[in-house]
This record gives sequence, structure tokens and C-alpha cells, in this order.
Amino acid sequence: MSTPPTAPLHSLSSARKKITTHTFQQKKKQGEPISVLTAYDYSTAQIMDQAGIDSILVGDSLGMVVLGYETTLPVTMDDMLHHCKAVSRGAKYPLLIGDMPFMSYQISAQEALRNAGRFLQEAGMDAVKLEGGKERLDAIRLIVSAGIPVMGHLGLTPQSVHQLGGFRAQGKLASAGQQILDDAHRLQEAGCFSIVLESIPAKLATYISEQLDIPTIGIGAGAGCDGQVLVTHDMLGLFDRFTPRFVKKYAELHSNTQDAFSKYIEEVESRAFPAKEHSVEMKEEEWDAFQLAVKSDE
Ligand code: KIV
Repeated sequence: MSTPPTAPLHSLSSARKKITTHTFQQKKKQGEPISVLTAYDYSTAQIMDQAGIDSILVGDSLGMVVLGYETTLPVTMDDMLHHCKAVSRGAKYPLLIGDMPFMSYQISAQEALRNAGRFLQEAGMDAVKLEGGKERLDAIRLIVSAGIPVMGHLGLTPQSVHQLGGFRAQGKLASAGQQILDDAHRLQEAGCFSIVLESIPAKLATYISEQLDIPTIGIGAGAGCDGQVLVTHDMLGLFDRFTPRFVKKYAELHSNTQDAFSKYIEEVESRAFPAKEHSVEMKEEEWDAFQLAVKSDE
């Protein structure tokens, strides 16, 4: 019996299906790249869902691109849950991943489990992500044992920015590359369903992706990963404080938005806005009656 050619997973059926961690696994098996973007609000999540994204990460990058902090370190569980709730109201089909903020999973495995649970129970997420390698295994095992899918994150881990000496590429030395590879194996054994590889050499990321059974999602890690993720504010050209070298800008929303704001200000000042079509009408007879009533009160 001949096997039918492998169809892309999104076209297996005309009815769109919810993406799950199993879909991630199937996509890896079939060599189909996984698309992931970050979102932090209802409208963006809705647009991404309509565009057909596989997965939305509510990243703690929101601390920098939405809340204006210098790093992701000040982001709290309350911040994350607030934004995750908005995203889960906007997106139905993508796998929704909530990023565990700094200090929500480092203190103890029990505390990590309690916080991970809140992402699913209170905020409508399907999975959580946390940063780090061998030092996180206890927390990952406990979270996974409670039925909560965990995505790992290796390489440039922004919550360790001070330890890493800045937002800089990792794994460029053979020994550092070996450490990342070992950690990737450990995370897989601990039960992670996927691992983000951030800002590591493309060769290393490709090698790790080939060695692992679970999908890798790269950001600044080359084309050999099983999927890609970008921070949406970077790829839309919205965040202009700095743009990492690995970001491709798919739009220039900062300048486009600024142009729109300038035009609005100009039209308010010149009274070109609002025009008749933006205003509420009142029937002449009602206006006449109103004027009569006002006059009789005088
Ligand atoms: O917080 C985030 O957006 C992330 C991605 C960069 C992977 O962790």
C-alpha cells in the first residue's frame, strides 16, 4: 500500500484545529516549521490567530516593550496574568504559552508549581515557559507531573542578564556550546515539550535540534531550529529603543504610527477632524424643540 504524501498539518482538515503540544511534536516529525510570536493584548492576539500563527508566547519581554522597563526583571506574576488573560480572550486556535517571570519559579519547586498552575487556571494559558538549565530540573519535573506542559529556554536567558554581563550571544565557545547541549538533553528528559534557543550560533542550534526529539524554537539561532519566535514589537518595528541584529522587521509601525498621530494632532488643531460623517446628527424638529424649551426656561 502506498503512503499518501504528507500534507501540511494546517491543511489536514478544512476545519481549523486547536494547536497543542502534540501538534508541535507532529510538526517536528514531519519537518514542518513551527511559527511563534509574542503577544500581550487581546487585539494583537486576535490578528495573529486570524493570520494562522501556531503559537503565541505571552513573553515577559512585555516588561520592556509594553511596560518600559530596562530589563524583564521587574515583571511580576500579576503583570503576566493580566496580559495572559487578555491574550487568551483574543486567540482561540494557537497554543498559548505564558512566560514565568523572574522569581516566580526560582525559590522552590513547590512555588514554581503553584505559579505555573495560575497561568492555566486563572489566565487561560495552555503551557508555561521558564528559563534555565540543570538548576531548573526539579521545578520542571514537578510542574510537568501536575500535567502542565513546560517550554524550556536556553542560551541568552534575559532574566540572567546581570550574570551574563548584558544581552549578548551565548554558546560561542566549544565548552559553552557543550553546556547548552547538555542542558537541552536534561530539559528534554525532565519533560519539556519544547525549548527556546535564544541567540546562540546557528550551527550549534541546528546540531541541538537534530539531537533532540522535542522541537526547538529559535530566536537569533538560525534556520536550523524546528520553529522560530520573534518579539512582535521588534518585528513590527514598533519598539525603537534597540533592535537585536537577528530581528527582521516586517513593518515600520513606529514611524507609521507616529505619522498617524501627527496627522491627527494637525487635523484637531485645524478643525479638519471631526468631519460631518464622524458626528452625531439631530433632526431639525428636535433641535427646534430643544431651542424652544431652553428659551422658555430662561
Ligand atoms: O519574553 C519573551 O518574549 C521571550 C522570547 C524572546 C522567547 O522569552
